[in-house]
Parts: sequence; C-alpha cells; structure tokens
Amino acid sequence: MFVSAKSGREPTTRTPCVGVRVALVVGSLGVLGVLGCGDPSSDADTQADDSSDTDALRPSWHQDIAPLIHAHCVRCHQPGGVAPMSLHDHDSAAPWAAQMLDEVVAGTMPPWGPRITERCQPDHDFVDDPTLANADVDLLARWLAAGAPVGDPATAAPLPKLDSLALTDVSASFHNAAPYSFEGPGDAYVCFSADLGLTEPRFLDGIEVLPDNEAIVHHVLVWVTPTPPAEHPGPWDCPPGAILEGAWLLGIWVPGASPTVFPEGVSFAVPAGAHVILSYHYHPPGPGTHTDRSGVALRWQAEPTPWLGAFALLGLHPEPDQLLDPPFMIPAGASDHPETVAEPWPVDEVSLFSIGTHMHYVGRDQLISVQRPGQSLADADCLLHTPAWDFDWQRLYQIDRPLEQLPTLGPGDTVWMDCRYDNTLDNPGVARALSEQGLSDAQDVYWGDSSLDEMCVGLVGVAWPLAGPDPDPDPDPGPDPGVPGR
Ligand code: HEC
Repeated sequence: MFVSAKSGREPTTRTPCVGVRVALVVGSLGVLGVLGCGDPSSDADTQADDSSDTDALRPSWHQDIAPLIHAHCVRCHQPGGVAPMSLHDHDSAAPWAAQMLDEVVAGTMPPWGPRITERCQPDHDFVDDPTLANADVDLLARWLAAGAPVGDPATAAPLPKLDSLALTDVSASFHNAAPYSFEGPGDAYVCFSADLGLTEPRFLDGIEVLPDNEAIVHHVLVWVTPTPPAEHPGPWDCPPGAILEGAWLLGIWVPGASPTVFPEGVSFAVPAGAHVILSYHYHPPGPGTHTDRSGVALRWQAEPTPWLGAFALLGLHPEPDQLLDPPFMIPAGASDHPETVAEPWPVDEVSLFSIGTHMHYVGRDQLISVQRPGQSLADADCLLHTPAWDFDWQRLYQIDRPLEQLPTLGPGDTVWMDCRYDNTLDNPGVARALSEQGLSDAQDVYWGDSSLDEMCVGLVGVAWPLAGPDPDPDPDPGPDPGVPGR
C-alpha cells in the first residue's frame, strides 16, 4: 500500500580517559561535570583566565568548540529550542561538557538513525547527515580533558549561520478546528482532520508541521486521505504507531526535523476532495491541563512536475509466507529476538529517494535490504541500517543522489526488513509501554497497532517519471492509492 514520508557511522568505541568517566558520573551536579583528566579545577573559566600558557587553553570554547556545537547542536539546544537545555554559549555548555561527549560517542546526539555497520554499507549517503566527524569528537574530548576552557572572545572563530528550516513558498496552512486540551501527566494519542478544500487535483511537494506547544508535541504523522475520515474533524483516539488504512503518509515530524520536501521535479498528486489528517503523540512534561493547536503548511506546485512521487509502507500486513520464521511473536523476556519480513516489490520500477525504518517500543535494531533477481540473500543490497532504533526519533532519510542516479526498486526485487527486539525491562521502551498499560511484567508481543504490539515495516519514498508532460489530470487513488505505473 502506498502511503506518504543521510550516511552515519557506527558509534565510535573510543574510551574517554578515566577522569572523563568520573566527570560523567558527577555531571548531573552541574559545573562539576567539566572535571576532566587534566587539571582538576572545578571552574573552567577561572582555570582558563588564570593560565598564562596559551597552548593549555586549547581547544577552547571560542576558538574551537563553539563553531562545532553551533553547527551540530544549537538548532535544538538553544533557549526556547526543543531540547531540555541550551548549549549556545560557554556558560550553558560547559557544565554539560561530559554528557555532550558521552552522547556524541554513544551516537545518540545529534539524533540520527543510519549507521554504516558490518552488516550494512549502502552505496549512497543521506542528505543532511549531522553526525560529527571523528576529528570533531576528538576535539570535544580534548576540550573536556582541558577543563572546558572558554578561550578569548576577542579572537573568537566565526559561528556558522543556521539556515531557517521553514518550508519556503508555502501555499496554504491548516489547523485543528479548535485548540485541543487534555490532562497530564499521561501521554495522549489523537488525530484531527481538515478539508484541503481542493476542487481539482493539486501537486504537493512540501509539507511542514507547525508545532504550537512544542513542550508537549512529541511527534506528528501527516496523512492525506482521498475522502473525509469517518471521524472528521476529530479529535479522535489514534493508537501509537497506528497506520491509517486508505490514507497516504506524507510526513513525519519529530523535534528539530526539517519539513518533508520532495526532490526537485517530483510531487505528490493530491486528488480533489482530499483531507489532511494530523496524528499526534502528546507527551506532557507533567500534571495539569495542556493545550495545543498545531497545524500543517503545504506547498503546491503550479504545474504538474515531470516526476510523480509517493511514500509506501512495506511489509504492513505480512502473510505467513512473508515471514522468515512464522508466526510473528516476540516472547516475553527475549533480549535479542529476530523477525524478518519479505515484501516482493509489488509494482513497476520506481526510483527510491528516501527510506526509513518503523517499529514500536520493543524494537531496537532494523535493517532494510533489497535482493535483486538472481542475487543470494546474503548478497542483498543494504539500503538502511538503524541499529539503535528509537521510537521517539523516527524519520525518513533522503538519499543523496540526483534523481536519475537513485537506486531503483522493480519487479523481481524483494525488500527484506530485518528487525531485532528486546522484550525485557532493560529496554526503556518496554518499561514505558508496560507502564502505559498498567503492567509490570514483560508480555509476549504480537503484530499490531498499539504500544505493546510490534511491527517491522519499511517506509520508502519513491518517484517515477511521467511518460508525457501532462500526468493523469484526474488522479484517482482508488483503494491502493499512488501505485505507480497504473
Ligand atoms: C534535532 C534536535 C537535537 C540536536 C540536533 C541535538 N540534540 Fe541533544 N537533545 C535533544 C533533545 C530533544 C534532548 C532530550 C532527550 C531526548 O529527547 O532524546 C537532547 C538531549 C541531549 C543531552 C542529554 C541531556 C540529559 O538530560 O542528560 C545531551 C548531553 C545532548 N542532547 C547533547 C547534544 C549535543 C552535544 C549535540 C550536538 C552534537 C546535540 N545534543 C544535538 C535534541 C537535539
């Protein structure tokens, strides 16, 4: 079923010096966190100012670290940003120096799923990969070891300019009919819909979620349906991870994410009468009444584009013959349980422009590969590996190639989704899902929509050229919308 939606590296296994480890432990106490392996001064600023040996001051915040942190972290870690603390200046960043290194070394910050691993070396990169180069990680480690010195503001290195992430040339925006309020501290999963007001088909190439109360909007899925949903305009309950049947998924928003933009020359044909559905996960910081009225901005192309695009979910309803080892069941207590779903590519040849993995809370590692006709499974082409799956940071990764050079998916190809699950209380996702359901012991987990069910799904963004300059002027998505080559 068609629905709507960079290259990383394996987390480095460098071991910070012993002092760094100590600093990690005391880091939560604030400025003590800057204790490194060097001078055990507890005040990086004083240490920096008092030193007459300028070499001892490097790497320093103003000379070396600030440009790095601004390029990779400050988009989220700034006052009013989505992250819980700012890292934009020395005063706010220095107390976090140890945790910063720890998160970067672990590969958890900046948030980014794809890794190059022993099992997966795709021959494409992904657009906008924010991962730090090893040399930058070293710099951060040496800064921490030096006591996180501030350096000289008079000779500060220039800071990179952060481009706006906002969608340009917005055509229309839609909001929920009324603000939505609910009582914390529990999470809420709700859907709203809005009429796009189209009397004729339009060609959509950009979607941006407009979060209102960022403190509670955890993530948002944007769907488009050819007809009004039964519950229109909502709000109505949407289970976490729910897949809306008969709708196209057109975007995933997580904190700090860029808008969903189709590659140049590609658009999605939205039929007349279509509605947009916003599927929210609200995660309030605590008790009390929380209110939000987020929306979505869309960009229409004035003319049909030379390529059409759509997003597809692969392996959504696996039949037993699509499972490597049926039935799909993750036993309670299993810490590394594999499930594999195979999806023979169902339609004509398309070009793959983006890809993402999708599981729920029990998942911890997913790999997507494609087996070409005559190729052995062991030699299948790996497309994406997200070995540190995080439900909270799911997104699509755009392949960094010109349209004509994108990998293809075609008849005879089989797409394999290899998923691994940790169904123990050591998995924070399992602990969270159990507590949401008022349970204390791990449960056997089956395929399904709700938080204690699982999936092993691939998300792909695909495009196909139109034979003539004028694509189907009256796209009729029908029950299996967006299928190319129809
Ligand atoms: C896309 C947004 C985003 C970017 C970019 C980002 N962070 Fe974060 N960071 C967050 C959020 C949100 C959290 C809160 C925890 C979570 O949701 O995972 C966080 C948490 C952290 C924490 C843990 C705080 C704690 O409570 O222990 C550290 C340390 C951190 N980030 C460092 C960094 C560093 C260093 C960079 C850049 C190399 C970076 N982050 C880039 C969004 C971001």
